[in-house]
Amino acid sequence: MHSILITGGAGFIGSHLTRLFVTKYPHYNIVNLDVLTYAGNLENLKDIEDKPNYSFIKGNITDLELLRILFTQNHFTAVLHCAAESHVDRSITDPLAFITTNVLGTASLLQAAKESWIGKMEDKIFYHISTDEVYGSLGETGFFTEKTAYDPRSPYSSSKASSDHIVRSFYHTYKLPVKISNCSNNYGPFHFPEKLIPLCIHNIINNKPLPIYGKGENVRDWLYVEDHVRAIDVVFHSGKVGETYNIGGHNEWTNINLVKELCRQMDEKLRREKGTSEKLITYVKDRAGHDLRYAIEATKLKNELGWMPSLQFEEGISKTIDWYLNNGEWLNHVTSGDYQSYYDKQYHKR
Ligand code: NAD
Ligand code: DAU
Repeated sequence: MHSILITGGAGFIGSHLTRLFVTKYPHYNIVNLDVLTYAGNLENLKDIEDKPNYSFIKGNITDLELLRILFTQNHFTAVLHCAAESHVDRSITDPLAFITTNVLGTASLLQAAKESWIGKMEDKIFYHISTDEVYGSLGETGFFTEKTAYDPRSPYSSSKASSDHIVRSFYHTYKLPVKISNCSNNYGPFHFPEKLIPLCIHNIINNKPLPIYGKGENVRDWLYVEDHVRAIDVVFHSGKVGETYNIGGHNEWTNINLVKELCRQMDEKLRREKGTSEKLITYVKDRAGHDLRYAIEATKLKNELGWMPSLQFEEGISKTIDWYLNNGEWLNHVTSGDYQSYYDKQYHKR
């Protein structure tokens, strides 16, 4: 029986993770702490908001006093830490927001957990959800393993790398029972349309340009979000304390080929003439410090804990497109208001 604090549960991955834990483990008490930035959306959790084992608290992970109160009131036995500023482009324009939430916020959570669990660390878990971007950028060959040296290159990835180090320091120094996983690019329902896949789906629907940074030759390793949260479930319950697990899809795509696949599938689904959406592809100025390639070696997770991705990419992307086509209201809500001013600043300067 766990009492779990999930942070960032109203975001993309956090909402899938919260749904999985609330529905699969009705005997666990789940508290979702989220400050509801532009990326946090309680609409993502509508189907589970009335479940008796779920509650939501609006609050900031940098607020140590609030964290102390929540630990005291709820007797948390575990933390699933998802909350973060997560978009690389935003980290280039506003790095300090990333340092504040990702570094200071993570340190505050660790401190609250340490204070609450001191002298009774057994059976507790502090699970830190991290990214493959901490390893830096690969050339055309090779993979990131759990032993790859950290080499983050954006304010986002360096803030995540920094938080990973602080998490490990609490394990070594205070014996806080931590687990870390570093995952590759996720895609799927509820993905905010500032990231490549949902942004392109939204723009194809609306016949707007599809902005490709540089030559579109950068490579990402895409994993369906439900496979990611399944992996987190496995590591949470069966992974070893103090260990790191890489999670990835063995599914590498150059950005340009990925966007062409999206165009192909969407022309079919929208009954548009073949080739219509590809005409929207527009090459724009490259991202500063753009990492060339990410690719995860996830054999430790497969060999030790038996996890593997369940979906082939063509199927996952088809399900994802269908979700966006069937959830126009969600898309309209998240792309009204502030989204427009972000979009204008981000793309009209290029
Ligand atoms: P997201 O931006 O969709 O969601 C982040 C959530 O955190 C939002 O609900 C937001 O309101 C909340 N949040 C932000 N700052 C907060 C604060 N100070 N206090 C409380 N809540 C706050 O992010 P995501 O894509 O779901 O990523 C979740 C986690 O997974 C992040 O730690 C990210 O680094 C990691 N990750 C993401 C990916 C990916 O492809 N999206 C891949 C690997 C790892
Ligand atoms: O690898 C895991 C990471 O994946 C996560 O830690 C991050 O939180 C998540 O945002 C994601 O980072 P990326 O920078 O790889 O994702 P994004 O969707 O922003 O970009 C994917 C690729 O597409 C990247 O090479 C940049 C490119 N791109 C992106 C956008 C938004 C474009 O060419 N045009 C665009 O408009």
